[in-house]
Amino acid sequence: MIETALPQKIKTVGVIGSGQMGSGIAQVMANEGQCQVIVQDITDTQLDRARLGIESSLEKFVSKSTITASEKEKALSRLTFTRDLEGLSQADVVIEAIVEDEAQKIQLFQALDSLLKPEAILASNTSSISITRLATATRRPDQVIGMHFMNPVPLMRLVEIIRGAQTSDATYQTIQELGQKLGKVTVMSHDYPGFISNRILMPMINEAIFALFEGIGSAEDIDTVMKLGMNHPMGPLQLADFIGLDTCLAILNVLYDGFRDPKYRPCPLLVQKVNAGYLGKKTGRGFFEYAK
Ligand code: CAA
Ligand code: NAD
Repeated sequence: MIETALPQKIKTVGVIGSGQMGSGIAQVMANEGQCQVIVQDITDTQLDRARLGIESSLEKFVSKSTITASEKEKALSRLTFTRDLEGLSQADVVIEAIVEDEAQKIQLFQALDSLLKPEAILASNTSSISITRLATATRRPDQVIGMHFMNPVPLMRLVEIIRGAQTSDATYQTIQELGQKLGKVTVMSHDYPGFISNRILMPMINEAIFALFEGIGSAEDIDTVMKLGMNHPMGPLQLADFIGLDTCLAILNVLYDGFRDPKYRPCPLLVQKVNAGYLGKKTGRGFFEYAK
């Protein structure tokens, strides 16, 4: 284990994976956090899409006078985009937001461990995967933590912080302070499958999919019950499409494998949608259809 003092101030943040979550995290780190942000992904197409998405989101805030045009420009000037993982070597904190797959995350954490400064913190935005196992893949398990943002990151106030079995108090405190600097409310969860948020959310979404699968109601009616009957901002099927059906399935599989309890078994209709490539809003089709 590498023993070093943690950085007092987080100046440079690396974000890996520039999909819907990574681009939102990069945006709030640059705008609210006023950090230098290096965004890494595997294709230029995805990095271009992320840059455009961040610009358009910041523009919406300017048009609502939530931020000024000058603050938008300053935030954009703090962002750099790269395909080169080595570009992250000077980061004080790296937040991983790649696909919800433990093997891919472990491979990335091992590469980052060799590349980053000894004192750097390695955080994961995972929805469900064991922080303790990700930490064990590195030589700095005390500096590995879950920093779980909610989608859409610029609008949602919560960050769930997950302490792995080896996470140090100093790492936890640094990440909690960083979350607060972003204007978020933080909560702490211990490291068990799905943490607090998805332990509760995913069984509800899965049950809604079972209700559709069993023909209890139409997709529209199931969502209307939860929107108008329970005052949820989105119905569970629309929310599943919004999160990504591949991500929902991956989270349910982590819950099912982790607790070995049949209550978490993914609905066969969800599995079939993912097999067909109907991943929700990001592919234009899931339980509903979307303009791409
Ligand atoms: N940046 C800036 N502005 C944005 C934005 C973004 N990324 N996304 C939306 N907006 C703006 C819209 O332009 C819109 O502005 P106007 O009012 O000027 O039109 C405003 O925010 C509201 O958006 P919409 O009108 O499109 O829709 P809405 O009123 O339904 O609000 C929402 C959108 C905040 C997403 C709301 O539907 C909502 O809260 N949905 C539930 C979200 C949720 O549950 N998230 C958690 C998912 S689970 C998770 O994240 C954890 C996990 O591990 C899976
Ligand atoms: P996404 O599919 O939108 O984006 C994933 C990005 O990671 C893509 O741009 C992809 O090119 C990139 N990527 C894949 N492998 C990579 C690698 N080895 N190196 C660098 N980049 C790589 O996914 P998302 O919805 O942004 O989810 C990302 C993570 O955040 C997942 O762990 C997910 O569980 C978690 N999360 C998702 C949500 C949500 O609502 N979608 C909410 C909270 C947390």
